[in-house]
Amino acid sequence: MARNNFVIAIDGFSSCGKSTVAKALAKKLHFVFIDSGAMYRAVTLFFLRNNIDLLDTDAIESALENIHIDFVPDGGKLQILLNDEDVTEEIRMMYISDMVSEVSAIKEVRHAMVAQQQKLGKRRNIVMDGRDIGTTVFPDADLKIFMTANPRVRAERRFAELAAKGETVTMEDVIDNLAHRDHIDSTREESPLRQADDAFVLDNSTLDQEQQLNIVLEQYEKRKRDQ
Ligand code: DC
Repeated sequence: MARNNFVIAIDGFSSCGKSTVAKALAKKLHFVFIDSGAMYRAVTLFFLRNNIDLLDTDAIESALENIHIDFVPDGGKLQILLNDEDVTEEIRMMYISDMVSEVSAIKEVRHAMVAQQQKLGKRRNIVMDGRDIGTTVFPDADLKIFMTANPRVRAERRFAELAAKGETVTMEDVIDNLAHRDHIDSTREESPLRQADDAFVLDNSTLDQEQQLNIVLEQYEKRKRDQ
């Protein structure tokens, strides 16, 4: 059945600036922004807190039944609630980044999150960013953007972000974490990170935020005209 909402999928490697573009775009178009990575991060936090064995499928399935994730607008920001607790800050910590790719490679976790993401994207205009949005979650998305950036630029951005939050990490830690996540994200069996054939590729290594937003808006206008 044809949808009557507009879905924008933004995928790409870690720390490519996907959520910055996605947020700005959603704001400009008055669409709902959904950060799918935050959902995998919240699941990781829950698994760590509850000592879930990542090889125990039964434990994983019952844990997933007890996880409820919500997005709540908070001024210009978005709060992420895990079972009603605000975990927005905690899920960005390095100890979560170190585990999140392992957790998000688990088949049961992916099935549960993809189903929730598809529900969140029903009947409303959305911008969703992640790794498999244009390939698995919304293969029929109206606009697909695949973002890339030079690895050094990505690591510098991520390092600056963590340092601003007071985390004591080295540049080497950040480079290792990004390389590790890229590897797991793109080689996992279940919906690996890959560019959709019909995605527009945006390499933002040398672009500022305004330039990126303008390029994506141009693509949006083009798709609207072609519809
Ligand atoms: O976008 P992010 O860095 O916050 O995402 C955290 C992790 O979640 C990332 O390493 C891979 C995983 N992820 C995923 O597997 N599928 C998505 N749609 C979004 C994120």
